[in-house]
Amino acid sequence: MAPAPDTLTIRRPDDLHLHFRDGATMRAVVPWTARQFARAIVMPNLSPPVTTSAIAAGYRERIGAAVPEGVPFEPLMTAYLTDDTDPDDIAAGFAGGVLTAAKLYPAGATTNSASGVTDIARIMPVLERMAAIGMPLCVHGEVTGAEVDIFDREAVFIDRELAPLVARLPVLKVIFEHVTTAEAVQFVQGAGTNVAATITPQHLHINRNAMLAGGIRPHMYCLPVAKRETHRLALRAAATSGSPKFFLGTDSAPHHRHAKEAACGCAGIFNAPFALESYLQVFEEEGALDRFEGFASEHGARFYGLPLNEGVVTLERLPAAVPAEIEGGEASIVPFHAGDTLNWRLVSA
Ligand code: NCD
Ligand code: ZN
Ligand code: ZN
Repeated sequence: MAPAPDTLTIRRPDDLHLHFRDGATMRAVVPWTARQFARAIVMPNLSPPVTTSAIAAGYRERIGAAVPEGVPFEPLMTAYLTDDTDPDDIAAGFAGGVLTAAKLYPAGATTNSASGVTDIARIMPVLERMAAIGMPLCVHGEVTGAEVDIFDREAVFIDRELAPLVARLPVLKVIFEHVTTAEAVQFVQGAGTNVAATITPQHLHINRNAMLAGGIRPHMYCLPVAKRETHRLALRAAATSGSPKFFLGTDSAPHHRHAKEAACGCAGIFNAPFALESYLQVFEEEGALDRFEGFASEHGARFYGLPLNEGVVTLERLPAAVPAEIEGGEASIVPFHAGDTLNWRLVSA
């Protein structure tokens, strides 16, 4: 067997799902992403949410102003769908290059989703229009009913909502975001080429024990919540399979330490600072270093119909110590892998 390489150079990657927030927090977190990724699909769940093309254009400008001088980084914007979304506005935003996709949050499913969609039937005109113009739909795939166990909400969403939607609009490009279950992997694999999924680093690294065994660990809590080990293994197999249907989307979701370490802690894991290092460790453990570039830099861009990035990034096999906390604007944020040492380190440009 050839010895494992000590450096890995890949085409500059994209993060196809993350949260930047706004204001001081955004200014603190954007540089972490910009140092690794050429582009990122920016989620619109601000408070109030980014519901129109005009709001997205303003948000894009604020993000651009937070990118460090000389760093080539392009935020790709999404619109937050509500029961009242105007199809003309969404289509104009897409045609004008302001919007790259629109996001479906079932109302109440996750952080800042209260204004989300109460019934997919209500936004059918928007979705039909998106299908007609080739505009991708990003989906937070969980049902919200209190009668459904939180660990089952993704699998139930597939049967109740996603499968019927995909059957009804067979050309709509759908990204099943942050998949966490073997059922989701199977659904995506079995669907047409218009259906793909993002996978986060945390769902490749941890199962639900990390959150609940030996004490409750709020920094391991995100939505969809981490599942059993069998699901983690299915996600690792999918991510490293080489299938163009699975690609990198960190779901980096910064919440300040005090908002996580609370009686009712927020959902979301801030993984942006060491995202590439975190994913790469998984690919190495799975003996799939040769498939990392596809997952990180090619599959997502191709699915979205974006040009592949020009430059490269290099990672070297050197210990990367993840700090216990990171400056997060108004307060500090505890990153994923806080206090741990990862095996790879990004070489700064
Ligand atoms: C995200 C957030 O904090 O905005 N939280 C999370 O747990 N993933 C929202 C989301 O992506 O569902
Ligand atoms: Zn989500
Ligand atoms: Zn997210």
